[in-house]
Amino acid sequence: MEQYVIKGGNPLVGEVDISGAKNAALPILAAAIMTDETILIENLPDVRDINVLLEAIAGIGAHVDRVDRHTVKINGSTIGDLSVDYEYIKKIRASYYLMGALLGKYKHAEVPLPGGCNIGSRPIDQHLKGFRALGTDVDIRHGAIVACAENLHGSHIFLDVVSVGATINIMMAASMAQGRTIIENAAREPHVVDVANFLNSMGANIMGAGTDVIRIRGVEKLHRTEYSIIPDQIEAGTFMCAAAATGGDVMVRNVIPKHLEATTAKLLEIGCEVQEFDDAVRVRATRKLRRTHVKTLPYPGYPTDMQPQITVTLALADGTSIVTESIFENRFKYVDELTRMGASIKVEGNTAIIDGVNKFTGARVSAPDLRAGAALVIAGMAADGITVVDDIKYIQRGYENFEGKLRSLGAEIEKVSSEKEILKFQLRVG
Ligand code: EPZ
Repeated sequence: MEQYVIKGGNPLVGEVDISGAKNAALPILAAAIMTDETILIENLPDVRDINVLLEAIAGIGAHVDRVDRHTVKINGSTIGDLSVDYEYIKKIRASYYLMGALLGKYKHAEVPLPGGCNIGSRPIDQHLKGFRALGTDVDIRHGAIVACAENLHGSHIFLDVVSVGATINIMMAASMAQGRTIIENAAREPHVVDVANFLNSMGANIMGAGTDVIRIRGVEKLHRTEYSIIPDQIEAGTFMCAAAATGGDVMVRNVIPKHLEATTAKLLEIGCEVQEFDDAVRVRATRKLRRTHVKTLPYPGYPTDMQPQITVTLALADGTSIVTESIFENRFKYVDELTRMGASIKVEGNTAIIDGVNKFTGARVSAPDLRAGAALVIAGMAADGITVVDDIKYIQRGYENFEGKLRSLGAEIEKVSSEKEILKFQLRVG
């Protein structure tokens, strides 16, 4: 089992390049099977979730050619199996994007039902509601969703909750339905827009992505394209919070500053300096941070995927801050670990009440999920002494070369896999 061992205390200083967005790349890879022609995708992040989805895509018979670490060619003409193996869904929920893609192209898909996960129960009723509205028979058989349609036809769909996954899955299937589909109360996240742009570059006819009403005119066929994934707003935000929490000065490069506005606004509120450039933001924390309140909301609100990172930052700010999690019910699990590092946080239901402290002290902690894991690493870098973060497999799902990028900013962090290596690190850093 791999771990991160960190000696805290160094402000992060320097420049860091952000990778492609995991949550845009996942549905784009799935959508790439919707044509029999070859699709080239660039700026893929080299992270575990992406690699597992590529295995799942190869598993149904598509041809996957990893041209290099960040580029892949996919050809869906050889698909022979319309059922996705449970092994993949277990490892990565987002394999369910193959449902919308297969359904759109073949009018048939069998995908195991994803269970809950560490951040909450995560139903997919809105995806299924959308598929049914498009004329699909959806059955749950032996733990799998069996979706089957004679013909998909356009429909007017009102989502009961704003869901990224449901918006994208329905958008994919509707792209190859007959007639016009309208998705109301659609998610507006940048990755929804990226998937729509990708599908349009394959010949789909999607309008309104990025607003809460998406209009899709179905087409019979999609075709080849070459596409580059947008930068990862959550990875960028994570480095912005890391700069703030360590009293650092970081230029976060290869980003779309507009996508980072919710994080930028909060960092300005708590006293950081944030400068925006065309494709970069610079975060400087030159004085003691101040309290604020944060509530997670669908885009353009403050992202739930940035909640643990800002909580860690606020735990080091002057005064009492309140963070409310309104998207997932179980996303404060890491708070107990943070408390072991000296944070003073009380969780009541979906609210964390944070009394800022001057310093954390290093401890042995465990990452409960992807973003919380990254937040614990930030805490370790801001703490006095040594922190060991266990279970970094979660972090590796979504951050490419996290330790390497942090080291390039001056962090003392190493990936290790034994107590002996931890000891060696301790002896080396003193
Ligand atoms: C996506 O998950 C992201 N995952 C999550 O990122 C992110 O936290 C989430 O969007 C919210 O931004 C991927 O893109 C792969 P939702 P998704 O459907 O699509 C409820 C990370 O750290 N809901 O927008 O599964 C749901 O329970 C991950 O990278 C229903 O009730 O999220 C939640 O409360 C973690 N019924 C809310 O909607 C449904 O059918 C938003 O979920 C679907 C969702």
